[in-house]
Amino acid sequence: MATSTSPNIVFRTCFSRRLVKDHGRKLSSFLPVLLAFSSSILLLFYVSSTSEIYSLRRISSVYPRAIMGVEVQEHLQEVHENMIITRNSSSFNINTQRSPRVSTVGSPLEKRNKNDDTFHDESLFMKEYKEMNKSLKIYAYPHNKNDPFANVLLPVDYEPGGNYASESYFKKSLYESHFFTNDPLEADLFFLPFSIAGLRNDKRVGVGGIQDFVKNYVHNISRFYPFWNRTGGADHFYVACHSVGRTAMMKAVEVKINAIQVVCSSSYFLPGYVAHKDASVPQIWPRKGTRPTRLPSERTKLAFYAGAMNSRAREFLVTTWENDTDISVHQSRLKTPYSEALLESKFCVHAKGFEVNTARIGDALYYGCVPVILADHYDLPYADILNWNTFSVVVSTMDIPMLKKILLQEIDSNAYLKLQRNVMRVQKHFEWHNVSVDYDAFHMVMYELWLRRSHVRIS
Ligand SMILES: *[C@@H]1O[C@H](CO)[C@@H](O)[C@H](O)[C@H]1NC(C)=O
Ligand SMILES: *[C@@H]1O[C@H](CO)[C@@H](O)[C@H](O)[C@H]1NC(C)=O
Ligand SMILES: *[C@@H]1O[C@H](CO)[C@@H](O)[C@H](O)[C@H]1NC(C)=O
Ligand SMILES: *[C@@H]1O[C@H](CO)[C@@H](O)[C@H](O)[C@H]1NC(C)=O
Ligand SMILES: *[C@@H]1O[C@H](CO)[C@@H](O)[C@H](O)[C@H]1NC(C)=O
Ligand SMILES: *[C@@H]1O[C@H](CO)[C@@H](O)[C@H](O)[C@H]1NC(C)=O
Repeated sequence: MATSTSPNIVFRTCFSRRLVKDHGRKLSSFLPVLLAFSSSILLLFYVSSTSEIYSLRRISSVYPRAIMGVEVQEHLQEVHENMIITRNSSSFNINTQRSPRVSTVGSPLEKRNKNDDTFHDESLFMKEYKEMNKSLKIYAYPHNKNDPFANVLLPVDYEPGGNYASESYFKKSLYESHFFTNDPLEADLFFLPFSIAGLRNDKRVGVGGIQDFVKNYVHNISRFYPFWNRTGGADHFYVACHSVGRTAMMKAVEVKINAIQVVCSSSYFLPGYVAHKDASVPQIWPRKGTRPTRLPSERTKLAFYAGAMNSRAREFLVTTWENDTDISVHQSRLKTPYSEALLESKFCVHAKGFEVNTARIGDALYYGCVPVILADHYDLPYADILNWNTFSVVVSTMDIPMLKKILLQEIDSNAYLKLQRNVMRVQKHFEWHNVSVDYDAFHMVMYELWLRRSHVRIS
C-alpha cells in the first residue's frame, strides 16, 4: 500500500504509461517526465549511497512521525528532498531547507532550532524570501471579454468567507500583488485561474462537469498559447481548497502529473497528489475583528474536540474519551460558543474527517490553542518551511488511547509554554488579508511556488 503511492513509483508508472500511449509525440512534452524519471534513478543511487547517514530520529524531527509509517516516511523524506533539487539542479543550497543532514549540526543555529525555531532554517528562508519577493513573476491566463465562464476565472468581488476561502483569497491577492505580470515572457510560473469552488457551484458545470471543463480549458490554452506545450505544464499551477479538486484533474492527466497543484486536501495517500511536486495550502475559516488572546495559565481545560462522526479516527477518538474529564470530546454542535472552547483549552484536537484537512488547525492556531493533529498521511501546510513539531503535537490515530499520557506526561509545562508561544509566532502564516502582507498565507504559498518553480525552458 505504502510503496504504490510513493512519488518515485508514481513517476515511473506515469512514464511507462505515457511512453506506451504517446510515443509519437514531440520530445518536448516528455521533458518533465524524463527529468522526473532520470531524477528517480539519481535518487535511488543517492539514497543507496547515503542511507546510513539518515537516522530515524533526525527524520522524525523534520517530519512529524505519525504522518506515515517510519520506513515510508524515511523513503519519502529523501524522495521529497531530492525531487526539489531536480527542479533546479544548480541550487543544491535549497536542499538545506529540507535536509537536517546538511544543516549546521552542533552550531548555535541548531541549538536555537531545537528550542525555539519554528522554521527548519530561518536564515535560509529569509534570504530566499527576499529573492522571491524581488523576482518571482506570475502570469495568469486572461479570458475573452464575453467568456460565459468569466465568473469562475475572475477573482471574486467580495470578501471570501467560509471553509474554502483560501482558494478565493489566493486569487484575489495574486491579481493585486507585485508578483502578477501581464507579460508571459517574464513569467516564472503560469496560473490556471479556474476556481474549483466556483465550478462546483455553477449550475452549468457542477461536480460532475468539472473534469471536462478543466480538460477543455487546458486544451484551449495549449492551442492558443505556446507556454503549455513548452514544458507539458510543469511551470503551471492552480489552487483549490474544496476536496472535489482531488478528482478535478482526472481527465487532464498532464496537469496531475506535471503541473503544481496547490491544494488543501493534501494527503500522501491520494493518487492525485504528489507531495514533492504539489503543495499544501492551509484551510482557513477567516474570522473578522481583532484576534482574542488568552494566556496559557488561563486555559483551564486540557484538550477539546468537536465534530461530526464521519471517519474512523473521529469515532475512535470519541468512543475512547467520551467520559473523560480532561479530554473533552463532542460529537455534535456545542451549546457554548466554539470560540470559547478553543480559548479555554490548552490543546485543540484536529481529527481527520472525510478529508485529512479541515479548518480546525487554522481555528486552533487563531485562538492560540496548540493543535493536536490526528490525521495520518496529511502533508501539512508549509511542512517544508515550518517545523510542525515546534508548534503542534502530531499523533498517529493508532495512538489515540495514549493521548492523555502524551499531553499530560510527555509534554511538561515548560514544553507546553514553548509550543504555545510558537503557536502565536506562526499565526501570521495562517492568515489571509484583503491586502496581503509579508509572511501571511498568500506570501507563504508564493514561497512554496518559488521552491517549486521550474527552470525548464524550451524555445
Ligand atoms: C537555480 O536557482 C538559483 C538560486 O535560486 C539561481 O541562482 C539559478 O540561476 C537557478 N538556475 C537556473 C538554471 O535557473
Ligand atoms: C516585498 O516586496 C514588497 C513590494 O516591493 C515590499 O513592500 C516589501 O517590503 C518586501 N518584503 C520583504 C520582506 O522584502
Ligand atoms: C475587506 O474588503 C471588503 C470589501 O471587499 C470589506 O467589506 C471588508 O471590511 C474588508 N475587511 C477588512 C478587514 O478590511
Ligand atoms: C474552449 O474554446 C472553445 C472555442 O473557443 C469555447 O467554446 C469553450 O468554451 C472553451 N472552453 C473552456 C473550458 O474554456
Ligand atoms: C500543443 O500541442 C497540442 C497537442 O500536441 C497541439 O494540438 C497544439 O496545437 C499545440 N499548441 C501550439 C500552440 O502549438
Ligand atoms: C461512557 O459512559 C457510558 C454511559 O455510562 C457508557 O455506556 C460507555 O461505555 C462509557 N464509555 C467508555 C469509553 O467508558
